[in-house]
Amino acid sequence: MAVSQAIPITRHPFANGSYKQMLIDGKWVDAASGKRFETHNPATGELLATVAEGDKEDIDRAVAAARRAFEGPWSKVKPFERQNLLLRLADLVEKNFDELSQLDTMDMGAPLSRTRAYRLRAVGMLRYYAGQTTAIHGETIENSLPGEIFSYTLKEPIGVVGAIIPWNGPLTATIWKIGPAIATGCTVVLKPAEEAPLTSLRIAELAMEAGIPPGVINVVPGYGETAGAALASHPDVDKVAFTGSHVTGQSIIRASAGNLKRVSLELGGKSPDIVFADADLDAAVPGAAMAVFANSGQICSAGTRLFVEQSIYEEFVGRVAEFGKKLQVGNGLDPNVQIGPLVSEEQLKRVTGYLDIGQKEGARALAGGGRVTEGALSKGFFVSPTVFAGVQDNMRIAQEEIFGPVISAIAFKDMDELVKRANNTTFGLGSGLWTRDVSKAHAVAKSLRAGSVWVNCYQAMDPAVPFGGYKMSGYGRESGKQHVEEYLNVKSVWIKTA
Ligand code: NAI
Ligand code: MG
Repeated sequence: MAVSQAIPITRHPFANGSYKQMLIDGKWVDAASGKRFETHNPATGELLATVAEGDKEDIDRAVAAARRAFEGPWSKVKPFERQNLLLRLADLVEKNFDELSQLDTMDMGAPLSRTRAYRLRAVGMLRYYAGQTTAIHGETIENSLPGEIFSYTLKEPIGVVGAIIPWNGPLTATIWKIGPAIATGCTVVLKPAEEAPLTSLRIAELAMEAGIPPGVINVVPGYGETAGAALASHPDVDKVAFTGSHVTGQSIIRASAGNLKRVSLELGGKSPDIVFADADLDAAVPGAAMAVFANSGQICSAGTRLFVEQSIYEEFVGRVAEFGKKLQVGNGLDPNVQIGPLVSEEQLKRVTGYLDIGQKEGARALAGGGRVTEGALSKGFFVSPTVFAGVQDNMRIAQEEIFGPVISAIAFKDMDELVKRANNTTFGLGSGLWTRDVSKAHAVAKSLRAGSVWVNCYQAMDPAVPFGGYKMSGYGRESGKQHVEEYLNVKSVWIKTA
């Protein structure tokens, strides 16, 4: 592993140590309790901002504002105008993109080399939803009833949406929640993650600048157990859109039972990435490595169970380990850095805990295996890219989501056995396979129980293509036409004409 000791300049117009309020009903306000919390740069420990700490009372205020907006003037805003608002917001996000990607880097650690690559996912996503705005339509449906009864459907916005997002990609996660809400005419109360709330607040500023009316987008930062739980259980919220861990997802479902609100869940994974002996190995080595090491493994669909065909196992896993050792680890504001820190001390403990578990279970660390503490990096939460060889299916490092830069490499012999083992997980989010054989690619893609299959690539994403989980990785889809449907109700209308 190569370590960058560069200490880049960290002045940022938004993350400058100042105090940030929350956005309710178009106004920037303090928490009702007056409480605040701090957010730090996980690469350096530096204080970025103090933030108003919302809890139940603030969620109540925000939901009331969202309800008033939903039932008030916002319900009269025509699709073309909502489209214009999304296009204006897209322009502002584009204009401020460097600043926004830097903010993500500072608040949660992902290197600029990664956050800057999200232009399409951020700006393109808003423009995609802008396009969807004027494409929403019901159907006229011929029925077989006697007499003259005309039937058609209307697509109506579902109402007030509670959006709860994690810290691993605040810019895109915020846009993924507010984009479809504006497109469909819903209103939103968004609770960012306590670890990285700043980008959502900055986007809320841009949304105001774009002219999105008061109450349509509200942002209430705070902790999961207080603000998040209040939003999930709120009787006047019509839908919760959640991204995060499966454990919190389960508590969201329980909290939703009170008013049977709709829920969509984008949860974690333990995704298989499969390398066949006939693959283009020069492409598969970096592909399989970055399928896990990107964002320090803090990606829900990371390809963490690396299945490698027995005949090339030692060679291939060795090459992935060598690749991991060459990656530049350091402060993500240094443009040469490829691997930033983990988001928090809690995540550091969790990931290094799994490194110990892996060793105890008998896996061999061919690369990495611990925290990085060289020089300035000792102030941050850095873990070196780790490759465990000799992993067995039943080991905890092959079953549980680690959410760190840790590859669990597993050998396989034939295809039937492989598919069963690849599907032997409670999750089903991403999956990948590397082969030159088209028939094999189709057969395996069809048999994997996961929401996305990447062949000879990994983590490709586009605003128009749906993304989401099977099994305990959740339900509902984000991106694509289906995402818009998640924010709509269908009403059937019958009109007797004779
Ligand atoms: P988390 O799922 O607890 O947090 C995600 C969001 O949910 C945050 O905004 C949090 O404040 C909120 N939240 C927490 N408890 C809540 C509750 N009872 N009711 C409503 N909202 C609540 O995830 P956390 O604690 O940040 O990370 C723990 C592990 O979860 C990670 O190590 C990783 O394995 C997994 N995770 C998966 C993510 C994914 O994209 N699939 C994202 C973040 C974490
Ligand atoms: Mg949590």
